[in-house]
Amino acid sequence: MRLLGLAAAVLICAATGATAQAASAADMHKLAQSEGCFSCHAIDHKKVGPAYTAVAQRYAHNPNAAAILQDAILNGHQGTWGVIPMPAYAPDGYLNSHQALGLAQWILSLKPKS
Ligand code: HEC
Repeated sequence: MRLLGLAAAVLICAATGATAQAASAADMHKLAQSEGCFSCHAIDHKKVGPAYTAVAQRYAHNPNAAAILQDAILNGHQGTWGVIPMPAYAPDGYLNSHQALGLAQWILSLKPKS
């Protein structure tokens, strides 16, 4: 099963053009684009979902932030920002946990314009 998971991860990386190395901000931006995140999110203003800079600000002092956001991306989430739910990305292998963590860390690294 581990091997299967690994093979799937390699396939997904190949499909998204991401490399197996540590995820760069540019890679994560591209992944968010190809996954359709920007149909509901923008970097610095609210759309259907919260601005990513607002998410970064909200969790800035939360030591579990990366894990919380990784979970929200994989399993969906509702109630923190309003009544509209965030869809889950784990089913059907849209995103693996490694990619979700990369996206979470990228979002947390975004700083609001001051
Ligand atoms: C159909 C619209 C939609 C899409 C597509 C979408 N989101 Fe969301 N997202 C939301 C909404 C709405 C919320 C607010 C959920 C809540 O209030 O808990 C949200 C919340 C979030 C949060 C904050 C979660 C929290 O616990 O505070 C993160 C991080 C996030 N989205 C990342 C992503 C990423 C990454 C993608 C693409 C892989 C994505 N979203 C795609 C609508 C969407």
